[in-house]
Formats: sequence, structure tokens, C-alpha cells
Amino acid sequence: MSRIIGKLSRLLRERGPLGLLRQVWSGIAWRAREQWNLRAGVVQIVDADLALPVEVIPTKKPMEVRLLRREDLPNIREHIYPLLTGPLESDRRIFEAMERGEDRNEEAYVAIMDGKIVHYMMWVQAPKYAGIKLAPDEVFYVCAFTHPDARGLGLVQHTTTRSMKLFQERGLRRAVATIHRDNPGMWKATGNAGFGPVGRPRSASHTSSSS
Ligand SMILES: CC(C)(COP(=O)(O)OP(=O)(O)OC[C@H]1O[C@@H](n2cnc3c(N)ncnc32)[C@H](O)[C@@H]1OP(=O)(O)O)[C@@H](O)C(=O)NCCC(=O)NCCS
Repeated sequence: MSRIIGKLSRLLRERGPLGLLRQVWSGIAWRAREQWNLRAGVVQIVDADLALPVEVIPTKKPMEVRLLRREDLPNIREHIYPLLTGPLESDRRIFEAMERGEDRNEEAYVAIMDGKIVHYMMWVQAPKYAGIKLAPDEVFYVCAFTHPDARGLGLVQHTTTRSMKLFQERGLRRAVATIHRDNPGMWKATGNAGFGPVGRPRSASHTSSSS
């Protein structure tokens, strides 16, 4: 509670009453939209069993892929922010919070091509996210984005499987995501990584036993 009050007073100081109202309203609207989308089946919950072996799917072109560092934020601001419009504005707000130094426990991978960040994907460990309750050994797939110049190079499936391996090593049990029903790229990429609709029969057929 004191964290929320601290955040609200900082926002009031930095942005004024109107800015604070706008921020609070956009948060409420985002939560309401997520809940409605889930209830209406516009987005569906998928999960992956981290007890199964995971093979890291390589990218189709060699490039630098690594965990997000603080010094990457200006690069993201310059090259990615202009593309984060509509529903993707919520991703921009997460990066803006990181810029302000607000640690919300998110963990992100980025891919860099010709010095520019062209992809990010982000996870969070929290008791609840987007209306979905999570256990301490579960991790939620917050978002992924690939610059149009780098789409189809296998970046989402690479960073997804890479982070799943990391989570396995940390002893996490389950990864959960919500996917918009009209997002074939996310269905394909997460499907290749081993995600499927919640409650489906489990199988390790997508994986290799070599990992
Ligand atoms: C969805 C999105 C993240 C996919 O990124 P990407 O890096 O191009 O994905 P990948 O290259 O890892 O694709 C994985 C698989 O999906 C396929 N795929 C990607 N986009 C596709 C599309 N629009 N339609 C059909 N298949 C698609 C790829 O061909 C690949 O399959 P294959 O290796 O079996 O051929 C990207 O299109 C994007 O940023 N969209 C806007 C933001 C968004 O919707 N984010 C997700 C919500 S948080």
C-alpha cells in the first residue's frame, strides 16, 4: 500500500494532477480490457510445463540476443517507442517505468541488429498479472515485439525457449501466457516453444531430449 501511495505522489509531483489522472485511468482501462478480452475469448490462456525438456530454437540469422540491460532503454526509446501504438502502448509504459527506476520484477530479452534493438520479450513473476493468479513457481509471459524489419527470423521462439530454459534452471514449474486469437505469429512461435491451451494433454514431442 505504501508503495502505491509513494508512486502516486511521485506521479503527482512529476506530471501534475491531470497527468496523474491520465496514468491512473489508463491503468484501469488496461485491466478492464484484459479482463473483458479473457471473458469474451478474444485472448486465450496458454501454458508450458517447465518440467519437460526444452530445446532452444536458434534464430534464422545470427544476431546478438541477451538479457535487457538498463543502458538499452534509450535504444528502445529511439527505435521501438514510435511503433508501440494502440494496445502496444502498455508495453511502452512498462519501459517508461523501468526508465524511472521502478523495478516491477520484469525480466526481458532483447535482440540487436545493426546496433538497433529490433526485438524484446518480457516475463514477470507476480502473484497476479492481467487478471491471472500465479503461484510462486509460475512465470507470466508479459509481451513480445519484433520490429517489422526483423519479423520471421525466429526471434520470438528463440527468446521464448531461451528464457524457458533459464526458468527451468531456477526451478520454476510453469510458464503462462495470454494470446490474442487473431495473432498467428504468436500462436506459431509459442506453439513451437511448447505452449498450448491450458488443460491440453502434455507431451514432450516439441522438444529434444538432448537439452
Ligand atoms: C507476433 C510477433 C511478435 C512475431 O514475431 P517474430 O519475431 O516475427 O516471430 P518468429 O519469427 O519467432 O515467428 C515464429 C513462427 O511464427 C511464424 N510467424 C510469424 N509471424 C507470422 C504471421 N503473421 N502469420 C503466420 N505465421 C507467422 C514464423 O514464420 C515462425 O514459424 P516457422 O519458424 O515455423 O516458420 C510480431 O509479428 C510482432 O511484433 N507483432 C506485433 C506485436 C504483437 O502482436 N506482439 C504479441 C502480443 S504481446
